[in-house]
Amino acid sequence: MKILFKNIKELIQVRENSIAFVSGKDMKVLPTIKNAFLLVEDGLISDFGSMDELSDIQVNQVIDASGKMIMPTWCDSHTHIVYAGNREGEFVGRINGLTYEEIANNGGGILNSAKKLQAVSEDELYNQSKVRLEEVMNLGTGAVEIKSGYGLTYESELKMLRVIKRLKENYPIEIKATFLGAHAVPSNYKNNKEGYLAMLIDEVMPQIVKENLAEFVDVFCEKGYFSVEDTKTILEAAKKHGLIPKIHVNQFTSIGGVQVGVQYNALSVDHLEVMNPEDINALKNTTTMPVALPSCSYFLGIPYTPARKIIDEGLPLALATDYNPGSTPSGNMNFVVSTACIKMKMTPEEAINAATINGAYAMGLETKVGSISKGKLANFILTKPINSYGFIPYSFGNNQIESVFVKGEKIK
Ligand code: NIG
Ligand code: FE
Repeated sequence: MKILFKNIKELIQVRENSIAFVSGKDMKVLPTIKNAFLLVEDGLISDFGSMDELSDIQVNQVIDASGKMIMPTWCDSHTHIVYAGNREGEFVGRINGLTYEEIANNGGGILNSAKKLQAVSEDELYNQSKVRLEEVMNLGTGAVEIKSGYGLTYESELKMLRVIKRLKENYPIEIKATFLGAHAVPSNYKNNKEGYLAMLIDEVMPQIVKENLAEFVDVFCEKGYFSVEDTKTILEAAKKHGLIPKIHVNQFTSIGGVQVGVQYNALSVDHLEVMNPEDINALKNTTTMPVALPSCSYFLGIPYTPARKIIDEGLPLALATDYNPGSTPSGNMNFVVSTACIKMKMTPEEAINAATINGAYAMGLETKVGSISKGKLANFILTKPINSYGFIPYSFGNNQIESVFVKGEKIK
């Protein structure tokens, strides 16, 4: 099956030679081809170029994209979209003056979601979660990472991971699974955190490997959750099981989580709302991707990740949603990209690079998605008619998506 997209006003994020990620000044460069064509063959990008170079070819379908742009689908490298129920009550509590920490300390927060999740069947959890997956696909996400971490028991952590596996089997987009058992200490282990960690390591991890349920491991390394030492304990065990770290660090405090991530070759360190110069320096010349989650800052009213400092120091940066019921009940990457421009002073070029190729890297998917390159999956967004790609972040709260293609097939 060959599909030709012709007269594309601008083909965005074109990378002739495949790259792993972009950092520093290079993030300001977003390569494009104006008046372009794009050829898709059996679900893969097989050719592209300027319309002047288009030779006479036989195809099954021609799509005229006059006035419209094509760009890679968003790569959302940090979500918790498998969850049960919602937490609007806490939202109202925060409006009335409670802090996120106060709510968590009163049995709300992650433990509240865990209680809800433990009470639903695997089928029910799957049905609630697939709605969110379909929602984000329609918003232009073509690759997504999904974490466990609302189970907090042997059965429920595995239940979450099995749901992620089913989503993987039933949906065409790329999905990566992360084991986040160390998200919060459950009430029954309140005075026995060591026991909880031991259960995660000795019981859950081997089962994950046996059923091939996750490729990544995560820890919420934060005061009141898991210390740097706890994080090391988990990451040490994860290494033995071949699970690669992607960790929650520096959301509220800087306690050395970035450094421990780098030490254990984390693929990414995520949140980073609170970054001191040592944290930024620790990331230099490493393979660890810093990931910012601006919708979380927006929803909780906490500081935004200092993107300018990070990028101006020569580092890369990825953007993701953090879609979850507590701190970010939104999986809209279009909003993330706008907010990164508006609140974090990223240019449209930087934000699009961060939400495509750098996001792909943060999931280990940089050879499959994240740019318009020959041989990559034909996962892309066809925009509505727009004048420039800057209009995408500019028109915040809207999206400029006319259709979404996954493996060359139109899903929206
Ligand atoms: O990434 N910070 C830790 N975990 C999630 C939110 C958890 C929750 O409130 O349910 C996050 O923001
Ligand atoms: Fe998160």
